[in-house]
Amino acid sequence: MVYLNGNFIAKNKASISVMDRGFLFGDGVYEVIPAYQGKLFRLDAHLQRLQKSLEAVQISNPYTNDKWLETLKQLLSYSQSDNQSLYLQITRGADTQRKHSFGSLSPTVYIESNPLIPKDKITLEQGFSAITSSDIRWSRCDIKATSLLANTMYAQNAKKAQVEEVILHRDNIVTEGATSNVFMVKGNTLHTHPANTHILSGITRDLALESATACHLKIKELGFTTDELLGADEVWISSSTREIMPITQIDNRTINNGKVGHYWACVYNHYQQLKND
Ligand SMILES: Cc1ncc(COP(=O)(O)O)c(C=O)c1O
Repeated sequence: MVYLNGNFIAKNKASISVMDRGFLFGDGVYEVIPAYQGKLFRLDAHLQRLQKSLEAVQISNPYTNDKWLETLKQLLSYSQSDNQSLYLQITRGADTQRKHSFGSLSPTVYIESNPLIPKDKITLEQGFSAITSSDIRWSRCDIKATSLLANTMYAQNAKKAQVEEVILHRDNIVTEGATSNVFMVKGNTLHTHPANTHILSGITRDLALESATACHLKIKELGFTTDELLGADEVWISSSTREIMPITQIDNRTINNGKVGHYWACVYNHYQQLKND
């Protein structure tokens, strides 16, 4: 079951116009919201970011927060899985002809829900690999836009290299992952790129910072170089579906001799508590 423009229908019955600007231009924004035990996690933060993305691309929010809550809850109720990941996308809508500029259109709203199976601690403790790559994306990565051509290329490269993530750098400064935020621990300090227009301000990034503070890490939201990344004591990536994941190998070089660090273990435990609050 999926949601499309006011209707709950079977996925194979859902269709949109070929004139939809989401299809023609990737002209839309999206959110991914986790739900644990049927409860939407940090919904307000996701809806706030959705509002910011919509405003940045001049699409008016088609629903109130109450309507979003009601719709998301109803979609959740159709699934048997305890934990789900909700994908919602709003495109500018369908026009009558293909032209880059736009007038006033009725936005297309699509939502689907998929089972969310976070990796367990034992699996995470084995650590994950990443590769680095130059960040070729545009300069408004703070907008959660559906136009993700660069990100799909990175994902394909990660698949080929059999690694978990591609860590991006702009002018040699680590920005974020292709689908995640990136952190490094050096000594007792956690470093991560500031939440400016070069990264998506992840909801999990905020939670990771909250957990890191609880684990007595100092926080430095400042850029760091790829060399500093490779020399870090710990590297983590974060996203709503992956939570906080330890990276122990980057470009065939090991981080902390390939061992997951103790700060990660503390942050992992704290994050699990936040999920259950
Ligand atoms: C480029 C990028 N950065 C960061 C994130 C993490 O955001 P969040 O923690 O809100 O899932 C994502 C998630 O998909 C992403 O695509």
